[in-house]
Amino acid sequence: MPESRCLQGIWSSPWIFIFAASGSAVGLGNIWKFPYVLGENGGGAFLVVYCLCLLLVGLPVLIAEVALGRTVRSNPIDTVNDLSERRIVHPAWVLVPWLAGITGFLILTFYSVIAGWSIAYLDRAVTGEFNNITQVGASSMFNELLATPSEMLLWHSVFMGLVVLTVGQSVTRGLSAVVRILLPMLVVTLVLLACYSMMIGNMSEALNFMFRWSWQNITFDVVLAAVGLALFSLSVGMGAMFAYGAYMSKRMSIARACSIVVGVDLLVALLAGLVIFPLVFSFDIDVQAGPSLTFVSLPIIFGNLLGGQFFAGVFFVLLVVAALTSAISMLELFVAWLHEKFYIARLKAALLMGLAVWFVGIAVLLSLNHWDSKLMYGLNLFELLDKFTSLILLPVGAILLSVLVAWFIPRSMLQNEMIAKQTNHFQWWYKTLKYISIPAMIVITLAGWIGA
Ligand code: TRP
Repeated sequence: MPESRCLQGIWSSPWIFIFAASGSAVGLGNIWKFPYVLGENGGGAFLVVYCLCLLLVGLPVLIAEVALGRTVRSNPIDTVNDLSERRIVHPAWVLVPWLAGITGFLILTFYSVIAGWSIAYLDRAVTGEFNNITQVGASSMFNELLATPSEMLLWHSVFMGLVVLTVGQSVTRGLSAVVRILLPMLVVTLVLLACYSMMIGNMSEALNFMFRWSWQNITFDVVLAAVGLALFSLSVGMGAMFAYGAYMSKRMSIARACSIVVGVDLLVALLAGLVIFPLVFSFDIDVQAGPSLTFVSLPIIFGNLLGGQFFAGVFFVLLVVAALTSAISMLELFVAWLHEKFYIARLKAALLMGLAVWFVGIAVLLSLNHWDSKLMYGLNLFELLDKFTSLILLPVGAILLSVLVAWFIPRSMLQNEMIAKQTNHFQWWYKTLKYISIPAMIVITLAGWIGA
């Protein structure tokens, strides 16, 4: 049997898990969210904190999610139900996978709108609208898109259609084959763009901004933003990686596979930063611009680049596919559950969930124009969902999931899951999760909320 063939839903080659999980991790979080959150939170100092969060919070929680998924090989809701029937955990823990499913659902409602922006930009790229564009032109192009709900609705619908079709087919099929080609292409394209951006942009100021450390920028708000971004970018805290763990071959070291996923995720985010910040500083774009930062900067690079139309086309196709391989992991939890529990066909379940997401997504895209009212804390629905999921739901989900794994699931059950040879990996991970990740997440989340 070829190494990569899927046998009863179990991926036999370790690389297949790595590709599938990287496909979920690498997405708009790296190319859209990372640069703007880095911009908003002051650059270098944030980056150091972010790397620490990836290592001390993101990686241990990712391992916890994957290990639990591989141990039980079922969807998170049935898993917790089953554990409570066996009296291993209290039935109230079933709230955790429900919360996770709802988080994924809510993230997808705005994620799909942003993926829609990427398709809209793909359309503009291939029709040559970026040619010789100026900073003012790029800003007004983006503002025009935001002011045209019908166009956003069209692309949001196209994207959700793609998500439903892909999730409906079952995630195992074809996913890692796509990511295997996509990821190297994305990395190579980003490296080329970063080189060009540093040539035409302000490289020294960009490097200074991204990599210079300064203590005074660090507050708990900033640290919470880093935790939220780390969880978002690694797709942890809502059971998405749980599903991939369930498909992972027993022969593979979970710790090693997850470390590779974290490395790839950070690499892509850093490259995106190196593409965007040189332009931000030489074209006088506001570094604190927020969610528009990536979409205002990118057309400028393509508009000035020889063969830019072609490169822009390739780049936005890659971005849309990267968004798709992430988006499917957000629906997977409920779709798998509906399918396994109620025997609803996957496609039907995906359609049901997809329609609900699509519907809420319409409210999200309207909140960027006609319905731009501030609902709470001076934020509109789009901003509220973006912040609420990253700063509240994902950290809370990650804390609960980690507490469940570290304190309630029997240690022996988890230990069997880590390959015997790697007992030291297990010790490291288990202690870090228990004594560093969980307390750190609790303190940071509470302090961040209070605004300390
Ligand atoms: N990690 C993805 C990105 O960077 C987004 C994502 C996919 C996600 N699945 C998730 C975020 C689950 C949180 C939870 O674009």
